[in-house]
Amino acid sequence: MANTFGHLYRVTTWGESHGGGVGAVVDGCPPQIPLSEKDLQPDLDRRRPGQSKIVTPRKEADRCEILSGVFGGKTLGTPISVWVKNEDARPEAYKEMETMFRPSHADYTYQAKYGIRNWQGGGRTSARETIGRVIGGSIAKCMFRQLAPKLSVITFVRQVGDVVARIDSSRVESKEVEGNPVRWPDGKEAEQLVKLIERVRSEGDSLGGVVECVVKGCPVGLGEPVFDRLEADLAKAVMSLPASKGFEIGSGFAGVRMRGSEHNDEFFMDGKRVRTRTNRSGGVQGGISNGEEIVFRVAFKPVATIAKVQKTVGVSGKGADLKARGRHDPCVLPRAVPMVEAMAYLVLADHFLRDRAQVGIARP
Ligand SMILES: Cc1cc2nc3c(=O)[nH]c(=O)nc-3n(C[C@H](O)[C@H](O)[C@H](O)COP(=O)(O)O)c2cc1C
Repeated sequence: MANTFGHLYRVTTWGESHGGGVGAVVDGCPPQIPLSEKDLQPDLDRRRPGQSKIVTPRKEADRCEILSGVFGGKTLGTPISVWVKNEDARPEAYKEMETMFRPSHADYTYQAKYGIRNWQGGGRTSARETIGRVIGGSIAKCMFRQLAPKLSVITFVRQVGDVVARIDSSRVESKEVEGNPVRWPDGKEAEQLVKLIERVRSEGDSLGGVVECVVKGCPVGLGEPVFDRLEADLAKAVMSLPASKGFEIGSGFAGVRMRGSEHNDEFFMDGKRVRTRTNRSGGVQGGISNGEEIVFRVAFKPVATIAKVQKTVGVSGKGADLKARGRHDPCVLPRAVPMVEAMAYLVLADHFLRDRAQVGIARP
């Protein structure tokens, strides 16, 4: 089972939803990067359950502790180990999952493959695992603050159910996004989305949607032309998040309706910089960043665990009716935002270090 992501900037996550705790070991972060728990906590707070009335009510403070790799407030270049204690686990609320498979969750496939599973809260397949990813992404953000300070990532909810935010991604501001519980780019519209999510939850159901991510100030040259194309690694990164169902970059699936003459991003010189007039490529051409904004979207399904009775089968092979209990997100989108952002930072950090290692010294 692969629990490590990345080549030069590597993150290993560990822990189960209802075990003692969860965390990450980040290896490959350069030395001398200022780092403390205070740098990581804001992103963990954005991911935390119980942060608003439209997410799971599980009460976790998710306070992190750095165990290694930092000395005198700076990274040592050694493995950075960080953990968060699980404080509000209630395994008894998942008793049904011991003997029954939740439709469209990981219960059946995990059991069929490994023959054993921690059924309490989904174990390793729970979104609680992503705490380690958010820690890794936050440390990468600190690295970029020192080594490429112009790079920033803004992530927001573009769609909930069939409601789509009509806004140009370049104009989205993080203050607006983080100022409402949906992480919607227009705070004035957010209340109607809150009502929609609350209504669907009260009906015992769940909602899906789309998260959009914009990377600004990315240097030209991150990524590679063959297997490890930047968009391929971004796709793998975000498609490894639980409940993700689709990825598109730039014009994405809509681009197929255009002609080449409409779709091509024409070049021009902006001072000494080669730029494109449009950005249908989404900031990546031939697998390599071209210096424009990297824009990609991730589709998330409506979560599997709902409070309606559903037909399923038990571990014994007999048909059964399941009405799930436990605490669940009616819509993962608001909490998926910091997870998508973390995965973007992990991919960028890895390619940044790889670019420096292979061609950085040769570049004029
Ligand atoms: C932020 C976030 C929160 C989630 N919360 C829940 C939840 O409360 N209940 C649930 O059944 N699934 C939840 N999931 C999704 C499951 O972890 C996921 O559906 C499951 O592991 C099966 O994987 P798959 O949907 O990718 O096939 C959440 C996912 C994310 C990204």
